[in-house]
Amino acid sequence: MVKSILSILFVSQALLSSFSRGFQTSPCLHQRQSSSLLRMAEGDNVKGSYDPKWKKTLTIAEKQALETGKEMTEKEKGLIGNIPVVFKSGNETKTTLALPNQPLSDVAVQAGAFIRYGCKKGECGTCEALCNGKYIRPCVETVPADLKQGQELVIQVKAIKSKRVSSGKFYTAKSVVMGFWNNLLGMVGFVKTRRAAKKNWEERQEYEDLIAKRTKEIKAERLAREAADAIAKESEATAKENEVKTTIKL
Ligand code: FES
Repeated sequence: MVKSILSILFVSQALLSSFSRGFQTSPCLHQRQSSSLLRMAEGDNVKGSYDPKWKKTLTIAEKQALETGKEMTEKEKGLIGNIPVVFKSGNETKTTLALPNQPLSDVAVQAGAFIRYGCKKGECGTCEALCNGKYIRPCVETVPADLKQGQELVIQVKAIKSKRVSSGKFYTAKSVVMGFWNNLLGMVGFVKTRRAAKKNWEERQEYEDLIAKRTKEIKAERLAREAADAIAKESEATAKENEVKTTIKL
């Protein structure tokens, strides 16, 4: 009991110290704040207090378009190919140039179009997209070689619904109370389990002692029986010997 009270006190002290530490600004938080400020300074579109954890790195063409406000043509971007490929996803459209028989997954990467893949073997259908009224699997498809000169290859990719959820504050009064409550429940559970285990251990010890005692008794009984048998056999042999001797004398 004293041990459990001591452990409860120890855990509550640890909780309180971590709680107080939570209100100090961590270097990590500083870093996050400065990186979001940096993005804002770069003209990034940060909505509300949401700080995205992942950002696509801008290509040279995208950076240039941001700086000059003018889109570069495919040729200016240095893209080669004679088939214009258009990826549509929701309201977003990405265009690029491709060569016949080029893997569509590579073309999508080149265009900056996001396609969610699963097996990447054409089996699961996660990447399925619509192309000229037909469903295709871009992970295994290639750019058709029989397109007419200047004909666009339009691919409708599944729109990705990304739910923007703020991770919120790390410590709140509720989280601290819930943490304390969880720890308390854990400790009570630990004490109960420990008690049950102790009782079980004592019962097992008692049972094992009983078995050892009974084994010892059986062994002693067997030894005594064997000794008695040996004595009986010896006396029987002696009696027979005496009998033989008496018969010879007669
Ligand atoms: S990723 Fe599974 S079919 Fe394309």
